[in-house]
Amino acid sequence: MEWHLSFFLVFCFSFVFSFACDTITPTQSISDGQTIVSSFQSFELGFFSPGKSQNRYLGIWFKRSPESVVWVANRNNPIIDSTGVLSISKDGNLVLLNQIQSIIWSSNISGVAEDPVAQLLDIGNLVLRNNISVNSGSYLWQSFDYPSDTMLAGMKLGWNLTTGQQLYLTSWKSTDDPSPGNFTYNLDILGLPQLVIYKGSMKWSRTGPLNGIYVGATPNVANMVFNPIMVFNPDEMYYMYRPVSDNIVMLLKLNQSGSLELLIWNNNTAEWKVLYSMPYDTCDIYGRCGGNAICSVSKSPICNCLTGFVPKSQKEWGSLNWTSGCARSAPIDCQSGEFLMLAGVRVPDLLEYSLNESLSLHECKAECSKNCSCTAYANSNASKSSGCLMWFDDLVDIRLVAEVYSGEAIYIRMPPSNTGISILYGITSFISRLYL
Ligand SMILES: *[C@@H]1O[C@H](CO)[C@@H](O)[C@H](O)[C@H]1NC(C)=O
Ligand SMILES: *[C@@H]1O[C@H](CO)[C@@H](O)[C@H](O)[C@H]1NC(C)=O
Ligand SMILES: *[C@@H]1O[C@H](CO)[C@@H](O)[C@H](O)[C@H]1NC(C)=O
Ligand SMILES: *[C@@H]1O[C@H](CO)[C@@H](O)[C@H](O)[C@H]1NC(C)=O
Ligand SMILES: *[C@@H]1O[C@H](CO)[C@@H](O)[C@H](O)[C@H]1NC(C)=O
Ligand SMILES: *[C@@H]1O[C@H](CO)[C@@H](O)[C@H](O)[C@H]1NC(C)=O
Ligand SMILES: *[C@@H]1O[C@H](CO)[C@@H](O)[C@H](O)[C@H]1NC(C)=O
Ligand SMILES: *[C@@H]1O[C@H](CO)[C@@H](O)[C@H](O)[C@H]1NC(C)=O
Ligand SMILES: *[C@@H]1O[C@H](CO)[C@@H](O)[C@H](O)[C@H]1NC(C)=O
Ligand SMILES: *[C@@H]1O[C@H](CO)[C@@H](O)[C@H](O)[C@H]1NC(C)=O
Repeated sequence: MEWHLSFFLVFCFSFVFSFACDTITPTQSISDGQTIVSSFQSFELGFFSPGKSQNRYLGIWFKRSPESVVWVANRNNPIIDSTGVLSISKDGNLVLLNQIQSIIWSSNISGVAEDPVAQLLDIGNLVLRNNISVNSGSYLWQSFDYPSDTMLAGMKLGWNLTTGQQLYLTSWKSTDDPSPGNFTYNLDILGLPQLVIYKGSMKWSRTGPLNGIYVGATPNVANMVFNPIMVFNPDEMYYMYRPVSDNIVMLLKLNQSGSLELLIWNNNTAEWKVLYSMPYDTCDIYGRCGGNAICSVSKSPICNCLTGFVPKSQKEWGSLNWTSGCARSAPIDCQSGEFLMLAGVRVPDLLEYSLNESLSLHECKAECSKNCSCTAYANSNASKSSGCLMWFDDLVDIRLVAEVYSGEAIYIRMPPSNTGISILYGITSFISRLYL
């Protein structure tokens, strides 16, 4: 990538007494080669060419690490030469024009703004606002509402429930091409909210429900660096994070091979360090073991049928092909419920489920016992130890969580008096025992 430091200095110097260097006004555009820098020098906005590409894109990057592009305006519509200009149009929109003045990209808000200015905030958000108003509620447009592949502190991932608009990350196609790739990172809100990486329309990896104890399978190492924030109200549902200290410079990036990387800036080496990534290991690949099985990286083989279940196909299972999963070895008793508690796990995906926040765990068991197709139940709010979550049909994507994780318990329905063998996945720090 190229930058033009000299242009920047000239540009900024000549306006230093009348304009801030982080602002674009109707009379002051930026051309390819010029940049604006946020007030405390954290972020820079300008034109760049990714990797080996010659194409020009308008983007925002970390000033101290210009190859770390966090947002791209014209992802789908590169400029093929260096004639691009970002300016504020007559109707108050931010527009990116090429040589022949055609609109390459636009903030595309309707209605005419009065006295509009665009400012690059020090959190990496490019905002369009009326010059007089500075509070975040009055932004006419902001880049945080149009995420690329990177989630910065202060950015929301989730849903505007009024409009149904969803904010999610989309991976780049390649290091040379920021157009949308195969992976997205979403807050799924069906049932209990969970964070899910999709490959196209298929689930690729998920955290598990964000229902109290922990952010899905996010290990403690991540929680030492940032605090997750979940906001659920009638207007919106979203996920955000806040670094535990102002000294931490971090980001979450969905890379082109479908990994969500937690990157921390190391000030001593002036490099990014990957602290954690999701999927973390092979058991984080969605549905690794098929239905009614549990994935444990410390076991060999990694996939095992749940107690009371046997491989659907011994032949496939024997050749380490787990896709077909497991089936019950004996039918359950529809008149009563016996359950095996499996603790320290990521609970199965909510494919067929029912949720009742007002039932206790005890009532939940009774409710599940009553229905022959109920296969398991658990607390729906792990931190409160209450609420009732019931699963029907196959239990998909259960994993044992490693010692660095916390996990929760699920109660799996068993055939009558299949008692006795109870300690199952005997990893010392976790318990599995039969509850009747
Ligand atoms: C602006 O938005 C309208 C619909 O809201 C859409 O039809 C149009 O293509 C958009 N224009 C640009 C330049 O993105
Ligand atoms: C924005 O407001 C400031 C302070 O009132 C003023 O100095 C500046 O000239 C205004 N800028 C524009 C582009 O109107
Ligand atoms: C996206 O997925 C399709 C189908 O699996 C594959 O052909 C293509 O190469 C993938 N693209 C990238 C950028 O990985
Ligand atoms: C779980 O219960 C706690 C304590 O009452 C509450 O603050 C939290 O919002 C609940 N979480 C969910 C996902 O309902
Ligand atoms: C949802 O979107 C509408 C329309 O853009 C906006 O007016 C409203 O403020 C948004 N709600 C939230 C909670 O952001
Ligand atoms: C990081 O390094 C820069 C330059 O070396 C220095 O100015 C800054 O104070 C350092 N920040 C922290 C948090 O150590
Ligand atoms: C994506 O992230 C994973 C985990 O950090 C890493 O192993 C992989 O090499 C990355 N892929 C690319 C294309 O950077
Ligand atoms: C695994 O088994 C499934 C059928 O359950 C089959 O479709 C698939 O091709 C097998 N995969 C491999 C790698 O043999
Ligand atoms: C939850 O269970 C209670 C008690 O059985 C019932 O009255 C209530 O309607 C249920 N709520 C939902 C949402 O199903
Ligand atoms: C059992 O639960 C399923 C799924 O919620 C439901 O469709 C079915 O009607 C229930 N059966 C009984 C007997 O309550």
